[in-house]
Amino acid sequence: MNFETIEGLRRTHMCGTLRKDNAGEQVTLCGWVAKNRRLGGLDFVTLRDRSGIIQLSFNDETDLEIFEKATQLKSEYVIAVCGTVALRTEKNINPNMPTGEVEVLVSELRVLNTAETTPFYIEENIDTNDALRLKYRYLDIRRPDMQRNLMLRHKVTKIARDYFDENGFLEIETPILTKSTPEGARDYLVPSRVHPGTFYALPQSPQIYKQLLMLGGYDRYFQIAKCFRDEDLRADRQPEFTQIDMELSFIDVDTIININEGFLKRVFKETLDIDIETPFLRLPYREAMDRFGSDKPDMRFGMEFINISEEVKDCGFKVFSDAVANGGSVRCIVAEGLGDKLTRKTLDSLAEYVKTYRAKGMAWIVVEDGNLRSQITKFLSEDDVNAILAKTGAKVGDGILIIADKDSVVYDALGNLRLEVARRFDLIDKNKFNFLWVTEFPLLEYSEEEDRYVAMHHPFTHPFDEDIEKLDTDPGAVRAKAYDIILNGTEIGGGSLRIYNSELQEKMFKALGFTQEQAWERFGFLMEAFKYGTPPHGGLAYGLDRLVMILAGCDSIRDVIAFPKVQNAAELMVNSPDVVDKQQLDDLSISINKTENKSL
Ligand code: AMO
Repeated sequence: MNFETIEGLRRTHMCGTLRKDNAGEQVTLCGWVAKNRRLGGLDFVTLRDRSGIIQLSFNDETDLEIFEKATQLKSEYVIAVCGTVALRTEKNINPNMPTGEVEVLVSELRVLNTAETTPFYIEENIDTNDALRLKYRYLDIRRPDMQRNLMLRHKVTKIARDYFDENGFLEIETPILTKSTPEGARDYLVPSRVHPGTFYALPQSPQIYKQLLMLGGYDRYFQIAKCFRDEDLRADRQPEFTQIDMELSFIDVDTIININEGFLKRVFKETLDIDIETPFLRLPYREAMDRFGSDKPDMRFGMEFINISEEVKDCGFKVFSDAVANGGSVRCIVAEGLGDKLTRKTLDSLAEYVKTYRAKGMAWIVVEDGNLRSQITKFLSEDDVNAILAKTGAKVGDGILIIADKDSVVYDALGNLRLEVARRFDLIDKNKFNFLWVTEFPLLEYSEEEDRYVAMHHPFTHPFDEDIEKLDTDPGAVRAKAYDIILNGTEIGGGSLRIYNSELQEKMFKALGFTQEQAWERFGFLMEAFKYGTPPHGGLAYGLDRLVMILAGCDSIRDVIAFPKVQNAAELMVNSPDVVDKQQLDDLSISINKTENKSL
């Protein structure tokens, strides 16, 4: 086939925009052949670009040469056409296509490029394995659902730019080649050629720079910022991801929250045309843990925790009484009306499920008409059982699912069990958007692995003023002026008011186990900077990928990132990470002492 050029043709419309109002217009369209089929001697070709699909038609009056060319078109050929928009006959109207009332009667057709048969169909909702989709990602993102996701993502970043600009924020870029910031994950390092043996770190977030911008007097900053964290991947985690990052001076928590509620309101209105109600609920961390066992509870459904420690602390069932005696607790959820569905098999599989969260098991009581079905009531007195029933309020038809352990295990296991029960029994309304601020986080949490306190948010978070003195005496009890924004059980953002005083910052590093020398060696520039007139400031960063994932109704952030990485942090299309030439390593004064199977 001879290729033709596009010269002399100028596109007039995008395919998906044509409607019956365009009937009679001469149009020029460009795109990819979606389908080419022959119906009773007439050819119908559908043409796709990122705006949608339009049907092209040819009739008895079509030039024979064009007709010939049309018959040779195959899927994914790149073509340009000129033609007239025509109304479809009543019986040919396709109500499932936005352009379904019209077609374009072709008067000129140019084949700009051919295409081989693609490894999977370029259409919505394909059932193809992820590795193949990612290897041919450029084809995967040609599919309409991926194109919609990436267009949505564009829209959200555009709204962010408009909204923050309108509210006096300046977009300022911060370095990518930088120094390690302690956000909690491992750093990606970049070796320096000029200074052999030294490394830049890619930013885990622009945290320190945005604080220094406040020192610099910029007052309100935002950035669509690439962040890098070498941590285990999950459906909502990528090693490189994007934040909508903001920081502002001379503010309190309420101001930050109001500005960000305004932003989310605008995003939902302009993308999904949904009016979300503000202000959002605010839940202190302690209460979130007590009621849901999670600092990012999904509150689209109930099944809140009930603490039955008091009721069972002296009961005859040792698993319960020992848990309480050892300082832990016994808590449960009531699966209302699900008693019939809680068969032995289901209960066993739920008991197995909680083991992944370190629980030793799950006890259960199903309240049946005139009977209790349970594996534990035989160990309990009638009074104990009645006390549990009274505390939980369980009725006939309900199931009580109980975990006894140390608190951290109970929260984790029962919190995840609550989500699992909701998923299995379809208790979550997918059309709901439930926003929530979780506030009053502990400033520090004890890391058994590192045998020291670590910052729950990051080391720059301001403690509650009235708790500052506890930094020396009872660090675990200090609350932070930090807040996370949760949407449907996903943490879509987090932030805090910051420390803006050198001594307090030094005290914080001390609480984190840094010696004074270590703190000054790593963050001396910051503590020094704080001495030159630092305004009180604070801010927040959204995970853009997570926000767009929820807006798009996807289950993984991979579906809203053009070129994501897979579980083991590789990118399958370009095949990264990859080995480099010996010369490149020599230039960097690097020698490798361990390689994977990729050969040098
Ligand atoms: P934080 O570490 O909570 O705060 O990050 C902010 C938000 O970024 C998103 N996020 C991620 N998204 C995808 N993949 C990842 N690996 C990943 N890690 C985090 C989450 C999270 O809520 N500098 C502070 C913000 C501040 O204090 O202003 C920070 O980075 O949605």
